[in-house]
Amino acid sequence: MAGSGYGDVAQKVDYVFKIVLIGDSAVGKSQILARFARDEFSLDSKATIGVEFQTRTLVIQHKNVKAQIWDTAGQERYRAVTSAYYRGAVGAMLVYDITKRQTFDHIPRWLEELRSHADKNIVIILAGNKCDLEDQRVVPAEDAQEFAQREGLFFLETSALNATNVESAFLTVLTEIFNIVNKKNLVAGENQANGHPSSLAGKKIVIPGPAQEIPAKGKMCCSS
Ligand code: GTP
Ligand code: MG
Repeated sequence: MAGSGYGDVAQKVDYVFKIVLIGDSAVGKSQILARFARDEFSLDSKATIGVEFQTRTLVIQHKNVKAQIWDTAGQERYRAVTSAYYRGAVGAMLVYDITKRQTFDHIPRWLEELRSHADKNIVIILAGNKCDLEDQRVVPAEDAQEFAQREGLFFLETSALNATNVESAFLTVLTEIFNIVNKKNLVAGENQANGHPSSLAGKKIVIPGPAQEIPAKGKMCCSS
């Protein structure tokens, strides 16, 4: 399944990073993915059933990095098998909707699930989606920023609709993973060859164009 995302190149891939999307139903996970992988958006998006993934290959520091983004249902009854979903994930995007307080209040639960099923070194970004709907905002950016800081997560507000920060959010996670993997390659090259690679062992990333601003952990940006 999952064809090539736009920007994919017919070249060798140096690194593959699995990133999982999680959060309540209708917060915009599938549309964030559609925006990132195909630069598409749909207002009448249907609830996801089961699991899907899409890929997009980026160049980071002269390496071809394939981001493999997994998306499942926010609704419990439609969800994929939890352990399989998180297996091998090196990054996660925790999504809530800035216009629905409950979706933010559930974030600690999603974080708990993530921490109990995923690798402990997984790189996590909290994303407050639908920031185009500023007039319907009920979750202050400061609340989310504070939570992210306390939990050691990156944080950005995004809009799949107008593309605000979607690219930045994924690049933030991918670049952090890339840097961790590079460091590990330098420091612990032998450990990775012993047949028990850590789940952060693997691939690399390069960001095309000028260097991207990476938000500090717990720092937010957004608002157009
Ligand atoms: P599940 O698959 O049920 O878990 O939901 P989901 O999180 O994948 O939500 P989905 O991407 O299907 O989006 C739900 C609704 O929100 C759709 O009507 C989207 O068009 C809309 N939506 C998604 N992102 C945005 C956004 O950034 N801004 C606005 N205004 N609407 C959005
Ligand atoms: Mg969905």
